[in-house]
Amino acid sequence: MWRRVASLSPMISSSSRSLSLNQAASGLKVGESFATEIINPDERVLASKEKAPFITFVLGGPGSGKGTQCEKIVETFGLTHLSAGDLLRREISLNTKNGAMILNLIKDGKIVPSEVTVKLIQKELESSDSCKFLIDGFPRTEENRVAFERIIGADPNVVLFFDCPEEEMVKRVLNRNQGRVDDNITTMKKRLKIFEALNRPVIEYYKNKGKLYTINAVGTVDDIFQQVLPIFTPFEQLKQSRHVNSKSPLGSNLVEN
Ligand code: ADP
Ligand code: C5P
Ligand code: MG
Repeated sequence: MWRRVASLSPMISSSSRSLSLNQAASGLKVGESFATEIINPDERVLASKEKAPFITFVLGGPGSGKGTQCEKIVETFGLTHLSAGDLLRREISLNTKNGAMILNLIKDGKIVPSEVTVKLIQKELESSDSCKFLIDGFPRTEENRVAFERIIGADPNVVLFFDCPEEEMVKRVLNRNQGRVDDNITTMKKRLKIFEALNRPVIEYYKNKGKLYTINAVGTVDDIFQQVLPIFTPFEQLKQSRHVNSKSPLGSNLVEN
């Protein structure tokens, strides 16, 4: 069901074109084969019949406050929060076939294969009645990003980046106190390195696409949320001015790309 909704959005075909152009420019081989699949004309014919979801990706280093701010966005704007890290940790606690592999990677601050993470996200998207999502801690890598486009067939409307100095992130993570196997100084150092090496290119990608909203993640939770509010408010206002489905204040059919 989701596959149709997401992959068939009118906005997707334009983003897919940007994807293939971007990848051609960067010489990223992995994307070349995906691009052909994404812009399958048969899918685009059906696109006009379905409404695409409103998707926000939430990026930022470990401890930058993504989860904390997502809670506030949910309270205020009613988006559905999906944390990639939480979905992976659930696999560990349910002892699924990938659980042990995921645990080893998380302990070491490494990135779980994109196929695994995207499939978990896909399951949540498909089973949800919501049409507006905050996908937190994803995409962590260019591979994550491309896999999402390939498997889900959708592109984010908004990308938030919580920009926080390393020193502050370390302090927050070491005080988080949630019993996480990766909230220790050794793993934290590895996570920070991986963030710089693998997540920065994703941030740059969305910056170049004009979708990135950078938020200064230092300050009180409320101060930071004051920067987040005006990002979502226009979508809400746009909806009100067009008198569309009141159940969907951030309905993606309102977003003009
Ligand atoms: P992330 O999801 O980016 O890893 P969290 O939202 O879990 O980050 O926040 C990490 C820790 O920092 C948590 O213990 C949280 O309560 C705390 N925290 C979040 N935002 C702030 C803030 N603005 N100032 C101080 N501590 C914060
Ligand atoms: O976002 P969070 O801090 O909860 O992520 C914890 C860990 O989960 C990451 O350090 C990484 O090992 C794994 N993860 C991943 N791919 C993602 C998100 C999280 O491999 N997209
Ligand atoms: Mg988090």
